[in-house]
Amino acid sequence: MKGIILAGGKATRLRPLTLITSKQLLPVYNKPMVFYPIETLIKAGIKDILVIVAPDYPGQYLKLLGSGKEFGARFTYEIQEEANGLAEAFIIGEKFVGKDNVALILGDNIFEHDFSEDIKSFESGALTFVKKVHDPQRYGVVEFDESMKVLSIEEKPEHPKSEYASVGFYVYDHRVCEIAKNLKPSKRGEIEINGNPSVNNTFLEMGELQARIIDGMWEDAGTFDSLLRVNNFMAEKAKQAAGE
Ligand code: G1P
Repeated sequence: MKGIILAGGKATRLRPLTLITSKQLLPVYNKPMVFYPIETLIKAGIKDILVIVAPDYPGQYLKLLGSGKEFGARFTYEIQEEANGLAEAFIIGEKFVGKDNVALILGDNIFEHDFSEDIKSFESGALTFVKKVHDPQRYGVVEFDESMKVLSIEEKPEHPKSEYASVGFYVYDHRVCEIAKNLKPSKRGEIEINGNPSVNNTFLEMGELQARIIDGMWEDAGTFDSLLRVNNFMAEKAKQAAGE
């Protein structure tokens, strides 16, 4: 299983913080944000990692993360020239993925969940991870049956069909690259993971999309409020670990 961290985008919602640096380099308590998705992948057993960054800051990422040796991993870098959508990660990463399975984690998503069991048991098709939230209309919304088979996915729907948000962690077999290449942009002009059309909706139509519920804290740290929450959460967790 290979890993992709998508740390592109312009993060206009976090201006002026993001006028001079990348969102995924902003601090979350005592570390740059991107350390968290890296640690999530490594904890899941994924050590061959492609980091996709926006064109303005590749030097900062290279300086911060280097070869990956210090993390016990191997990092490769690519640039996403424009914010063309999350699924573009699989077009940019096609050569990197090759014939392997791949996990995509969004660079601003911070998890407590341990993904290693799901990664180990994955064979083929697609897995989309979900968490119950009180404001599903802010996210991709996933409806699924008792066997965890996905019945529908809608991107930021006005009338959500479930309370389960699609979190920024996805697992696919290598066909995802071919699927992404053939996707037409959605109404908002992006190549989507969850919209219509999208990578997940294609696997759903093929009957190969399963949902998995995650445990523990999850934040998409892309707004001032969620960024503050996750900073406070990590500060509290560090204090508890130190026995304070
Ligand atoms: C993106 C996806 C959305 C998903 C979310 C998770 O939204 O489009 O389906 O639920 O990530 O963080 P964005 O944060 O780009 O608005």
